[in-house]
Amino acid sequence: MTKKEKKDVFNFYSSDDQEKKDSTKIVLITGGAGFIGSNFIRYLMKQYPEYKIINFDKLTYAGNLNNLTLIEEDPNYVFLKGDAANPEDVKNVFEQFSPNFVVHFAAESHVDRSILNPDIFLQTNVLGTQILLSYSREYNVERFIQISTDEVYGSMEKNISCNEYAKLAPNNPYAASKASADLLIRVAHQTYGQKVNIIRACNNYGPYQFPEKLIPVIIYNALNNKELPIFGDGTNIRNWMHVDDHCRAIDLVLHKGRSGEIYNVGADNEWENIKLVKHILKELKLPDDLIQFVIDRKGHDFRYSLDSSKIKQELGWKTTIDFKDGIKQVIDWYKSHLDWIEEIQSGEYMKYFERVYKERIVEQD
Ligand code: NAD
Ligand code: DAU
Repeated sequence: MTKKEKKDVFNFYSSDDQEKKDSTKIVLITGGAGFIGSNFIRYLMKQYPEYKIINFDKLTYAGNLNNLTLIEEDPNYVFLKGDAANPEDVKNVFEQFSPNFVVHFAAESHVDRSILNPDIFLQTNVLGTQILLSYSREYNVERFIQISTDEVYGSMEKNISCNEYAKLAPNNPYAASKASADLLIRVAHQTYGQKVNIIRACNNYGPYQFPEKLIPVIIYNALNNKELPIFGDGTNIRNWMHVDDHCRAIDLVLHKGRSGEIYNVGADNEWENIKLVKHILKELKLPDDLIQFVIDRKGHDFRYSLDSSKIKQELGWKTTIDFKDGIKQVIDWYKSHLDWIEEIQSGEYMKYFERVYKERIVEQD
């Protein structure tokens, strides 16, 4: 099959309307079956109905095509199973679709898993990013967006925030793998002149988040009368942003960001973990007695805090979803999607869950 015929999967060339053709972009989304990636695909398809979306995902434990049932029949959407760390898989997708844009979400994303098994984090998050960058260069991708994290800056004391020039100081294998990938993005720009951006976001919450992250673990366990594990004394601080606000930031950077720039995307919405958990319980109208303090995460970062003035000033981004409204909406979503969580909780997941939490349980007074 020629390249043109392959693109016809999308009837890309079938329109006679040149203006429409010119405004159409082929967007390769990696990791689109995960939490943020699947929310971004839905967001992008709504905002840019003419775009053609390729979702390239390995479908690890965290990749779930049930996250995309609302759009899977759309003629502008294609799913391709593949591994970002496998050059053959990546070559195949570039050969077939020659994307204009790449938005790179695919990653091993959970800190506790990285402490148990760092190797796969290096494989996917570092090598996978380099392979995607190399093919993006070969196929003249117009913009490569690296979805990074506030964790690359390491832990912050209270009242300190960091801008994009702060030093990288990751403290866990996940964060180190993301920081390494960010450096490869920088190199792609400095050495080869590739058009790239890095977006470093704070903690996201929203629908379709895998129930290993704090908010879905708490909601799901509370609804099922299970213990609510709080690491350490619960005073660690995270900054929470609705995933839709993150999607809006990615859209702005993809279309208007200055090439080579890093953009921090934080919500100015800090919560101590224990206070957040109590707030969720209050919303659920459930008592606090299921809370169980467990042995702390190794190398547990105390707090992350981003100075996001740059994206606000340059691109006019701001958060639009008030946390107390957003969390209510997300709690309702989980309540009405308990089957979604139950399907996920396969044997493999339960084994992980037991391994991570079993050794952590400490007797309480
Ligand atoms: P997730 O774990 O929910 O999803 C990751 C997706 O990547 C899954 O669909 C998985 O199947 C896929 N994947 C994993 N390895 C792959 C590989 N080798 N090849 C192809 N696909 C692969 O993660 P998420 O929470 O949606 O995070 C997405 C991105 O955003 C990550 O890069 C993460 O570092 C970053 N990020 C997440 C947050 C957050 O709060 N969740 C905050 C800031 C940045
Ligand atoms: O800050 C951005 C990062 O946020 C992303 O880059 C990561 O991909 C994402 O996983 C997330 O990392 P965190 O480690 O901050 O998120 P997590 O939901 O795992 O934990 C949030 C806080 O809650 C953290 O201080 C640890 C604590 N925690 C977590 C779990 C899962 C608990 O106390 N109990 C738990 O069971």
